[in-house]
Amino acid sequence: MKEMANGMHRILGEGAFEYLAKAQALEREGKQVLHFEIGQPDFPTPEHIKESAYDSIRDNFTGYVAATGILELKEAIQEEIDYTRGFTPDLDQILILPGAKPGIFFTMLGLVNPGEEIIYPDPGFPTYGSVVKYLNAGDVPIALKEENEFRLNPEDIESKITSKTKLIILNSPQNPTGSVMTQREIDRIAELAEKHEIYILSDEIYSKMLYDAEFNSPSVRDESKERTIILDGFSKSYSMTGWRLGYLVGPKPVIEKMGLLMINALSCTTSFVQKAGITALKGDQEPLFEMMRQFRIRRDAIVKGLNSIPNFSCLTPEGAFYTFPNIKKTDMTSRDVADHLLYEAGVCCLPGSSFGPSGEGYIRFSYATSVEIINEAVQKIKESFS
Ligand SMILES: Cc1ncc(COP(=O)(O)O)c(C=O)c1O
Repeated sequence: MKEMANGMHRILGEGAFEYLAKAQALEREGKQVLHFEIGQPDFPTPEHIKESAYDSIRDNFTGYVAATGILELKEAIQEEIDYTRGFTPDLDQILILPGAKPGIFFTMLGLVNPGEEIIYPDPGFPTYGSVVKYLNAGDVPIALKEENEFRLNPEDIESKITSKTKLIILNSPQNPTGSVMTQREIDRIAELAEKHEIYILSDEIYSKMLYDAEFNSPSVRDESKERTIILDGFSKSYSMTGWRLGYLVGPKPVIEKMGLLMINALSCTTSFVQKAGITALKGDQEPLFEMMRQFRIRRDAIVKGLNSIPNFSCLTPEGAFYTFPNIKKTDMTSRDVADHLLYEAGVCCLPGSSFGPSGEGYIRFSYATSVEIINEAVQKIKESFS
């Protein structure tokens, strides 16, 4: 067989899917596994959102729609951005996508030439580093430090900016650490991007999933007209991971070209899923608030539990639904600890190294599960080390 394209030798997979497959193999052998690997809320999609999709299908709203998204959803996103970020983007600053992930891929593909540099958090969402490598772009991961509660430090970014820097990727609240950046930090990075004329992709998929910290977006500075591209979506906040619905808000010329990527790659985002998205944004928000009340209880339980395990220590995350305990005192690699927990304790989590080299020494738990399971997992982990 002929060789595939060069980029295909550089693109990477995701640790979450690798560990899910390992856990499922154990389950097929009849073993019990407690799941903490996949980043997906365990709550069902709220009824009123499902109802609106059923209605749209019954009304035969099942054909192709505008490539950049249906007008009513874009209008709902205008209101949403005004309410949450304090400005109203124009309709042609908005692109509706099947999930948030294509927004990362399209933005990186659309803005960065081979050799131009991309700054992104390490540990971070694996797609960033994978697409950097796929594009043969300059790979500039910035280590998140536990001393700084895993928040990106603007000085670290400043020291890595060169004439080739094209894009900075921010993610707050953050996957995998649950950290939330302060307004000062976000402002400072937005200022640096402005000074050096660098695009920012602000991955705000967890914007509604905060405990006590407040949400900040770099987009307020330029109202997404010049350099800031907001990425947000429905997967996490509305328990809609399988529906595939997300969006970008960015400068008009950028969004226009991304619309062409949409036409060529996907034609449009599923029509009736977009209708459900309108209901999600404009309908009752109580299911989201209730989910966050539950996540807070679980967060407190898992942080307390993990901190009671010898050689584990764990900060309290401010957002999302992940904890990132330090396991350096076990003297094992994060992959060895994750494998040990899976095979000896029946607890599936992810090695920190699957989120980038600076994730070594940590493991990630997605606490999208009940307090009972959390407590059982903590007990089993303790026993596996004794
Ligand atoms: C930081 C971050 N960005 C983007 C995504 C992708 O979201 P979606 O499922 O809507 O594509 C995820 C999902 O885990 C994520 O953690």
